Amino acid sequence: MKRSAWMGLAAAAALATTAAPAVADVAMAKKYNCTACHAVDKKLVGPSYADVAKKYQGDKDAVAKLEQKVKKGGSGVWGPVPMPPNPNVPDADVKALVEWILAGAK
Ligand code: HEC
Repeated sequence: MKRSAWMGLAAAAALATTAAPAVADVAMAKKYNCTACHAVDKKLVGPSYADVAKKYQGDKDAVAKLEQKVKKGGSGVWGPVPMPPNPNVPDADVKALVEWILAGAK
């Protein structure tokens, strides 16, 4: 009994290190150059991620909407300055970044 529980834990730990799901953080935002225009807590070229999280609080369509926006770019929500499209970012990472931003970018 004790032994099999330990084996289960070991297997879970191995899974966590080999098949980690895409989890976004500042390093990922940096990697894709998002941080050239966005900071977490102040406006740069684009809105701060804290402001984005506040704006879409409680909006259940926000993830899908913002995934498209990050992929295809666009303007008019925060001002006249457009965000360029980001076609080089894999879909799973776009989703992870948007979820990270909406969760407050911490
Ligand atoms: C060249 C500058 C630039 C880069 C690079 C950039 N953004 Fe933006 N971003 C903007 C601007 C400007 C806006 C505001 C667009 C608007 O008003 O509709 C924006 C808006 C956003 C929004 C809010 C969209 C909305 O409709 O409310 C999100 C989320 C976002 N960016 C995420 C990202 C992510 C993730 C990356 C990296 C993959 C990224 N941005 C890279 C300039 C940039």
